[in-house]
Amino acid sequence: MDDEVRVLINGDADLVSARAEARAMAERLGFARPAPTLIATAISEIARNIVVHVGRGEIVLTPLEDGDRCGLVVIARDEGPGIRNLEAALRDEYSGRSGLGLGLPGARRLMDEFEITSDADNGTTVTMKKWRLRDELERRREQHRRRDE
Ligand SMILES: Nc1ncnc2c1ncn2[C@@H]1O[C@H](COP(=O)(O)OP(=O)(O)OP(=O)(O)O)[C@@H](O)[C@H]1O
Ligand SMILES: [Mg+2]
Repeated sequence: MDDEVRVLINGDADLVSARAEARAMAERLGFARPAPTLIATAISEIARNIVVHVGRGEIVLTPLEDGDRCGLVVIARDEGPGIRNLEAALRDEYSGRSGLGLGLPGARRLMDEFEITSDADNGTTVTMKKWRLRDELERRREQHRRRDE
C-alpha cells in the first residue's frame, strides 16, 4: 500500500497539484472511471475554499483498507477564521462572498463520507472518504501476496 500524500495549499497552482495527486492515488487504488475524476473534483473544491476563504492550509490523502473494501481518506486543514454558520454552508447556494456556494455541498455529494469541524479558534478541518468494494479475486490475490512475503 502506498503512503499518505501531503499537498500544501498556498495558492491556485496548488489546486492543480491537489487534483493531480488525488486522481493518481484513486487510480493506483483501483477506482474505475469516473471515480478518480469525481474524487479529484471534490478535493479541488475543498482546496479552493482554503485558497479563497483562508489563504493557506494543507491536504493529506491516505489510502484505506477495511476488509472487503478499500478507499481513501482526505483530510483538509486550515487555521482560518472558521465557518460561522456551518449548517447553512452545507446547504446549496449559501455563500459568504461572491461564489456560487456549491463547493461544500458538491464535495459532500461526490464522496461517501463527509465530516467538517470548524470554529474560530482552530480553523476548519474537512474529512472525507471514498470507498470501493474489492471483489473476491482481488482479496485472494492480496492474501497470497501476504503469505508469500
Ligand atoms: N475553509 C474555510 N474557511 C472559512 N470559511 C469557509 C471555508 N470553506 C468554506 N467556507 C465558507 O463556507 C461558505 C460555503 O462554501 P462553498 O464552497 O460551499 O461556497 P463558496 O466557496 O462560497 O462558493 P463556490 O465554492 O461555489 O465558488 C463560503 O462562502 C465560506 O463563507
Ligand atoms: Mg467554495
